[in-house]
Amino acid sequence: MHHFLHRNNELYCEDVPIRMIAEKVGTPFYLYSHATLKRHFLVFNEAFEGLERLVCFSAKANTNLAILKLFESLGSGLDVVSGGELYRGLKAGFSPDKIVYSGVGKRIHEIDYALEADILMFNVESLEELELIDERAGLLQRKAPVAIRVNPDVDPKTHPYISTGLKKNKFGIDMETAIEGYKVASKLKNINIMGIDCHIGSQITESKPFIEALESLKKLINELGQMGIEIRYMDMGGGLGITYNDESPPHPREYARAIVESLKGSNLQLILEPGRVIVGNAGILVSRVLFRKSGKVKEFVIVDAGMNDLMRPTLYGAFHAIEPVISTENQPITADVVGPICETGDFLAVDRKMPDVKKGDLIAVMSAGAYGFTMSSNYCSRPRAAEVMVKDDRFHVVRAREIYEDLVDGESVPPFLDD
Ligand code: LLP
Repeated sequence: MHHFLHRNNELYCEDVPIRMIAEKVGTPFYLYSHATLKRHFLVFNEAFEGLERLVCFSAKANTNLAILKLFESLGSGLDVVSGGELYRGLKAGFSPDKIVYSGVGKRIHEIDYALEADILMFNVESLEELELIDERAGLLQRKAPVAIRVNPDVDPKTHPYISTGLKKNKFGIDMETAIEGYKVASKLKNINIMGIDCHIGSQITESKPFIEALESLKKLINELGQMGIEIRYMDMGGGLGITYNDESPPHPREYARAIVESLKGSNLQLILEPGRVIVGNAGILVSRVLFRKSGKVKEFVIVDAGMNDLMRPTLYGAFHAIEPVISTENQPITADVVGPICETGDFLAVDRKMPDVKKGDLIAVMSAGAYGFTMSSNYCSRPRAAEVMVKDDRFHVVRAREIYEDLVDGESVPPFLDD
């Protein structure tokens, strides 16, 4: 069951006409379907039935408090990569013992914050980080629970900016050094070795790279076992892709089957950190056409959402389908959908065959629930978009549109300018 569907020539989110939300809230706005969010989480979680596992939603994909709160209520844990995400997670009510903390550049105050919150584990990405965590834990008189994030050197066959498990990537610790890392960790007074972790990349559309990574991790766990180092948690990261256009990623059940197969009989507890697969297709970006313009060689649809609202098209050349909110019978056009920002890279679609939308029409930029709002910015002093959640026939603004005052909040003019 899909929850962004045309009914009587008009796009709905669940039982609410999107046109009506646009009239009340203005544009642009992100729109999330509660039913889709919930179903995606449950399908993913239930795919691992029979295995001890903790699904930790990857906050970076969508950090809106309402979304975090929903996943928390469904039993999710949380994968965070900053003190800010940890703050949001705790605010949304996640139990600290369901929070894992990854990232190559953890800072002292962030480490202390996570130690004091008593999270499930740190996914450690360098030996220097390991030593720092030990030192901070000592000072705070705590034991730091850690996993080492290993870099299994597998090719996830995805966009180079979002592949993370190759030797040349900055993430994790290579397999040999990881063994060293565990030896060091086992001698550090304030470290508790809890697990092993990897995350090989994002928007991965086949199961094979995951299985290759899993097999490497299992080998390492065996070697560690022989050295007397016990591993309890195996964190496989996130990365399962979704359909934006014509990709056909494995269904979560297929992805899970391969993992469950490979882990059967072990007493490892699995952790997963899915982001995109849960929220990507549960959200859209709604924007209004400001103008049409025919250039000498291109047709332009100028809309009120720009690269500051949705960065993926320009940053990765990512494809997002564009649908009219009110269907049109007109012949389709081929156009660039561009925003109001002063950059040639400010586009949502290029040379796209699309409906013949006119000035004042609404468009829906599909599959925008993951890495949409979270990567948005105030570039060109554009207030960030509103976020709205729909449940059945109700909607709620889960983040107010920013106002001009928000743009200058925290700025101050130094008195010495008057000297
Ligand atoms: N765990 C870790 C340690 C990660 O770094 C990531 C994503 C995830 C989990 C979740 O991955 P997912 O299931 O969403 O693929 N901004 C890019 C994606 C960057 C992903 C970064 N890390 C995009 O818009 O495509």
